[in-house]
Parts: sequence; structure tokens; C-alpha cells
Amino acid sequence: MQKMILIIGACGQIGTELTLALREKFGNDRVVASDIREGNESLMASGPFEILDATNYQAIENVIMHYEINEVYLMAAMLSATAEKFPMRAWDLNMNSLFNVLNLAKDKKISKVFWPSSIAVFGPNTPKEDTPQHTIMEPSTVYGISKQSGERWCSYYFKKYGVDVRSVRYPGLISWKTLPGGGTTDYAIDIYHNALAGKKFTCFLGEQTKLPMMYMDDAIRATIDIMESDAENIKERSSYNLAAMSFTPAEIAQSIQKHIPDFEIDYEPDFRQAIADSWPSSIDDTEAQKDWKWKAQFTLEQTTVEMLENLKN
Ligand SMILES: NC(=O)c1ccc[n+]([C@@H]2O[C@H](COP(=O)([O-])OP(=O)(O)OC[C@H]3O[C@@H](n4cnc5c(N)ncnc54)[C@H](O)[C@@H]3O)[C@@H](O)[C@H]2O)c1
Repeated sequence: MQKMILIIGACGQIGTELTLALREKFGNDRVVASDIREGNESLMASGPFEILDATNYQAIENVIMHYEINEVYLMAAMLSATAEKFPMRAWDLNMNSLFNVLNLAKDKKISKVFWPSSIAVFGPNTPKEDTPQHTIMEPSTVYGISKQSGERWCSYYFKKYGVDVRSVRYPGLISWKTLPGGGTTDYAIDIYHNALAGKKFTCFLGEQTKLPMMYMDDAIRATIDIMESDAENIKERSSYNLAAMSFTPAEIAQSIQKHIPDFEIDYEPDFRQAIADSWPSSIDDTEAQKDWKWKAQFTLEQTTVEMLENLKN
């Protein structure tokens, strides 16, 4: 069977780059992008696009039948900071979209699913440094509760119905092609935009708040690698820990100051500080390294060079 991919939530921060990368790898016509809104020019011009609501089972099924889709990447979700403002809407979107896709796989209408989890599955009682794959979780945010529940359902659908669902717990993702969508790590993107505009940056997290982060190129590679890996390599059917780097706002500011010496930062923590404080500082991703040969490439210094160079152009 020829590979036909559907990306749901394709116009967001990750979906945009994932769509372009999958089109490059498998061919433009093999990758259908979809979202409740249109995306940027490069995404819209590069292949098929459908307006599609992730909470509408029938609408997803229609697109799957029409294009003879066999793999779905579900990227639609409400992110951590926004979800604290709209708890019930976040739960509705994050859970029902996942059930729709898992049920389509259970009914053999598609054969493989990617669904992203997050470091937000961990909570204040989780060991903060080198957080292991299996540990106390107890998330304290709406978003984290939805992601942990999602992980349990993925594992259940795999065991009970043999659904081939694969997942990683993304850390905060840093990218330049698309703006971030309302997460607690968005500051690590805004800071580069401000630095290049010659503006002082006021950070919504405190100076010493260390969080796990990753450059988008690594995240896209991890996503495609886990999906292309042989099924028997995927031993963890809830979601895999994934790590690249960890830094504080003060450290990212210092890495920018090596290139823009008069860049200034100050700190005014808001409601997002409590979310960040409940998350790990660093992640142990040994299981992903062992099972499907994952290895991050980008350090903070390399990320800063990439961000400044690309945003300048
Ligand atoms: N960006 C990160 O740092 C990060 C970290 C951890 C996990 N994740 C997860 O990765 C996934 C993608 O994140 P992102 O950063 O690209 O988010 P984003 O907010 O940038 O994009 C989400 C997209 O989903 C679309 N969408 C919203 N409601 C929809 C609906 N009902 N139907 C269809 N589309 C809808 C939005 O229009 C948007 O384009 C999410 O599951 C998120 O939880 C992201």
C-alpha cells in the first residue's frame, strides 16, 4: 500500500515544519495538511490542504476515505498557557481529537498514528533532574492532565486493540518558521525576535527557571524517525521521554549576548511561572536512544546561531 499521510493541526508551530519535511521525504501529493484555519504561504502552496475540525469524527473519516489515508499525525491541541484559561475547551479538544484518531485506527481505517505528548505530563512530585521514563507523574496543569490521560489511552488502545500509536514527550520547542501557539516555553522564541529588533526583553519566567528545550529540526527528525522505525522497536506505547538541552532564561540571554552584546533582559514572572515550576528541569531519554536510536544534535549555542541567522533573513 502506498503511504498517504494526513496531518491534523498542520498550520501550527510544529505542524507547519512537519508537513514540509514529510512532503520533502515522501512527495507533496502524499501528505495532506489540514487545520481549522489556513496556514502560511509555503505550506498552502506545497500540497493538498483541507479545512478540518479535529473534534469532528465524521469529517476526519471523510478526508481519510477521500485521500485513502493510512497514517495520521495529530498535532491539534490547546497548549499549556492557553489551557489554564479555558480548561473545559482544552479537555474537549485535546481528548476528543485523540479519541477520534484512535477509534479510526481501531476500526482499521488507518494503520499508524502519531500523537505528541509533553514534559507537562510530569508534576511537582516528579524528580526534577534527569526525570526518568517511568516515575511519579501527578501533573498539576489542565494541559498536563490531558496529556497524561492521552498517554494512558494510547497505551490502552495498543494493548487492547493493537493500534499502532507512537508518541514522544516534546520539551519546549524553539523554531523560526512559525510563531509559537500559547505554551509556557514561548519566551525562548520571543527572546530572539526582541533581540534582533534591538528591544529589551521582559521574560515572563524568572531568571533561574531551568526547563528542557529542543530545536525544531531535532523535534521533526525525532517525529519522523519514531514513525519510520520498525514496530517491534517501539516498546513504549504511552510516550517516550525526549531530550536535547536544558537552560534558564539567564543562560539563553547570555548565549544571545555573545552575538548581540548590548541585548538586555529583565524578569516579570506571571501565571506561567507556576506552570514552569511544576515541570522537570532536565529529562533522561535513554529509552528512546536505546529503542529507536534517538540522539539530539542541536545545543543551545547552535540553536542561537540558527535562530539569529534565519530570523535576520
Ligand atoms: N510547541 C511545543 O513546544 C510543544 C511542546 C510539547 C508538546 N507539544 C504538542 O505538539 C502538538 C502541536 O503543538 P504546536 O506547538 O504546533 O501547537 P500550535 O498551537 O502551534 O498548533 C496547533 C494547531 O492546531 C490547530 N487547531 C486548533 N484547534 C483545532 C481543531 N479543532 N481542529 C483542527 N485543528 C485545530 C490550530 O489552528 C493550530 O494551527 C500539540 O499536541 C502540543 O501539545 C508542543
